[in-house]
Amino acid sequence: MSATLLRMSLVLVGYRGSGKSTLGRLLAGRLGCGLVDTDELVVRTAGRSIKAIFEQEGEGHFRDLEAQALAEALGGPQAVIATGGGVVMRPENRRAIGASGLPVLYLRGEPELLLSRIRGDVATAVNRPNLTALGGGLEEVRQLLTLRDPLYREVATAVLELAGRSPEELADLAMEMLGREPQPTTKNK
Ligand code: S3P
Repeated sequence: MSATLLRMSLVLVGYRGSGKSTLGRLLAGRLGCGLVDTDELVVRTAGRSIKAIFEQEGEGHFRDLEAQALAEALGGPQAVIATGGGVVMRPENRRAIGASGLPVLYLRGEPELLLSRIRGDVATAVNRPNLTALGGGLEEVRQLLTLRDPLYREVATAVLELAGRSPEELADLAMEMLGREPQPTTKNK
């Protein structure tokens, strides 16, 4: 698909470690638009790290800021929108994503793959607070994925399987999938 064909935003969803930011950067380059990361919007608004927000105000406050960031991104200029892994937990967020009419790619991977990437990411210590009392290990990833996988699928217009694919290969596949999405009528940005 030629990059000029997609003149609307698109949304990336998936668990931590699924590579939303990496793929987002590649796709933004190919589509000639910006990358908006809802986690980065939250950090900018709050003026502190996600871990600090979790520690000082609690996860609920982070989720409020995340919902605002998502609404801002969905209402903003054309961009690839990389969302935080928990964005689908709130029904209002799922409704907002659905109502946007935008293509939504779910980056799906097995818990073992996601965990190895989370552990290999230097940003994890600052950006990724533990989400359960399980301490961030395989059991936490398994439990949360069991809860979240149906929610990612609920909002997704296409599922991208991560296993065995490089970021470039995923970007090729994503561009192919986007070429098959219904093209915008009134939602051009
Ligand atoms: C979270 C994922 C993180 C960040 C926050 C909560 C989650 O984003 O939004 O730590 O609930 O899975 P990434 O998916 O970009 O790591």
